[in-house]
Amino acid sequence: MKSPRALDSRSPEHDDLGMTTLQKAEAADHALIEELDRLVIVKSTIYTSGERDPREPLARQPDQGKLYLMGHDPRLPRMPDKPTLFDFFKYRFGPANHMLQSARLARKNGTSEQIILACLLHDIATSGFIRADHGYWAAQLVEPYVDAEVSFAIRYHQVLRFYPDESVGYRYPDSYVRLFGADFKPEPYLERAYQHALHHKWYMSARLLTVNDLYSFDPNAQVELEEFTDVVGRHFRQPEEGLGFDESPSAHMWRTIMWPTRYL
Ligand SMILES: [Fe+2]
Ligand SMILES: [Fe+2]
Repeated sequence: MKSPRALDSRSPEHDDLGMTTLQKAEAADHALIEELDRLVIVKSTIYTSGERDPREPLARQPDQGKLYLMGHDPRLPRMPDKPTLFDFFKYRFGPANHMLQSARLARKNGTSEQIILACLLHDIATSGFIRADHGYWAAQLVEPYVDAEVSFAIRYHQVLRFYPDESVGYRYPDSYVRLFGADFKPEPYLERAYQHALHHKWYMSARLLTVNDLYSFDPNAQVELEEFTDVVGRHFRQPEEGLGFDESPSAHMWRTIMWPTRYL
């Protein structure tokens, strides 16, 4: 029920409850603090492993009758009930400029739509999930929804970045020397993965991803996701139930990205 006072105070800046934008923001903040006060939110081991020794027991805070979070994290924007790939870009992934500019470059270079899609998706693990072995995680996330060539390119781009291929003008990145030091050597499992990719029929698909994987991208060039609506529509099999609810082999991974702090 609206109070007479609220009605009296209506003006263009007031909504139906007579609240200004600032008041609404304050009310939302207050509601969030209250909700967080009722919940215990625990981080998964992988968030803290290294900062603490995962073998040590966790000091359990007295929870004073609070409930453990088992759904949406109130600190994050809510996702639609049937989330699409673009919803994950909008609500859960970090700035996607690098992937978008890589996809645009791939298109400019005349690669196939499969390679453009691979470029658009290749670093979703670093931007929204787990960094280490990001090529493998990203490939696994999208595998049920894309052609095998696309997930192959995504999986092996991580490895191929470490190995030059002069035939396509791909050099070892200067940025890797800066980041990892001049003496860095990939682990033996990466050397084996490189050999596997090198002799695979889709080697060039993964290699083309590395060629278009822009590391020094233009911070001012704004590329919108919508530029790739057509490619995604044709080559990403968006599940009707929404990503996370379609019982694919990676559905649980999408759910974890959506609800990263659920207790179980
Ligand atoms: Fe990458
Ligand atoms: Fe990349």
